[in-house]
Amino acid sequence: MKTLSTRHLLGIKYLQPEDIHLIFETAEQFKEVINRPIKKVPSLRDVTIANLFFENSTRTRISFELAEKRLSADVVNFSAASSSVKKGETLLDTVNNILSMKVDMVVMRHPAPGAPIFLSKKIPANIINAGDGTHEHPTQALLDAFSMREKLGDLTGKKICIFGDVLHSRVALSNIFCLQKLGAQVAVCGPPTLLPKYINELGVKVFFDVRKALKWCDVANVLRIQLERQDIKYFPSIREYSQYFGINKQMLDELDKEIVIMHPGPINRGVEMTSDVADSEHSIILQQVENGVAIRMAVLYLLARKRV
Ligand code: CP
Repeated sequence: MKTLSTRHLLGIKYLQPEDIHLIFETAEQFKEVINRPIKKVPSLRDVTIANLFFENSTRTRISFELAEKRLSADVVNFSAASSSVKKGETLLDTVNNILSMKVDMVVMRHPAPGAPIFLSKKIPANIINAGDGTHEHPTQALLDAFSMREKLGDLTGKKICIFGDVLHSRVALSNIFCLQKLGAQVAVCGPPTLLPKYINELGVKVFFDVRKALKWCDVANVLRIQLERQDIKYFPSIREYSQYFGINKQMLDELDKEIVIMHPGPINRGVEMTSDVADSEHSIILQQVENGVAIRMAVLYLLARKRV
C-alpha cells in the first residue's frame, strides 16, 4: 500500500512529487464518493480532528469540515476570536489543552508563518497547515494543481502564471513549489512592489505586463490584493491597480487561444478581475472549490494512516 513520505502537511516544499501524485490518485477516488447520493465513507470513524482557526476563513474551513465529516471523523472546531486566546493563553497551551481531550489530528490556520511547523515539533498529533501567514497554503496549491490537471491533463511543460499580490500570498509560494514539482513552467505577474525582490531565484519567469503574461500562459491563477497584510501603500489606489493589473473580458477576447482562469477566493470583483471574467466560460473557480473537498479528504485519509 502506498503511503506519504511525511506524517504532517506543513508545506508543499516538504513533499516529494510522488506524494503529490498519491494525493491526486486518492482525491480522484474521493471525488467519485462525494458525487454519489450517499457522500460518506467510514474511513476515519476512529479519528478525532480539531480545526483550529486563528484567522478568518470561509472556503478552507468549510471544506476541511466537510471532508472530515464525509470521512466519518469526529470533528471539533475552534475559532480564536471566541476562545481563551483572547485572555492571553499561548498557542502551545491552547493546543495542549485541546489534545488532552484525545485529538488525533490538527488542522491549523494561523497568521504567523511557521506556526504549524512549531507545533509539529511539540505535539504528537498530525498537523495540517491550512494557511500560515504569508508562508504556505498547501491544500490550496494541491486543489489548484488538481483542477488544472483535470482541465489540461499532465502539467509537464504547461505554462501557469500567478497574477497579483505575490508578495503577501501563501497561495503563490505553495503553487510555485507544487507546479514546479509537477514539471510545469511558472511565471508571476504584478506591479514590482507586489513581487518579492528575488522571486526569479525560485526559477519563475517575471512579467510586469498583464497582456504579455496572458499571451504566454495556459492558466492564469489570479490572486486577491491582501490589504489586511499591507502595512504600507504598495500602489496609489485600487482604481489604478485594477486599471493596470486587473484582468478584463476584452483582454481574454483578444487572445487567440484557450485560457483557464482561476482564483483561490475570496474574489474582489472589479479589482483583480472583472465579474464577466470570474463568471466566464474560461473560469474554473467553482470547480476549484469542489475539488478542495476531495483533496482535503485525500490528505486527511493518507495522513491518518501515519498516526503514531
Ligand atoms: N482560499 C482560501 O484560503 O479561502 P479562505 O480564506 O476563505 O479559506
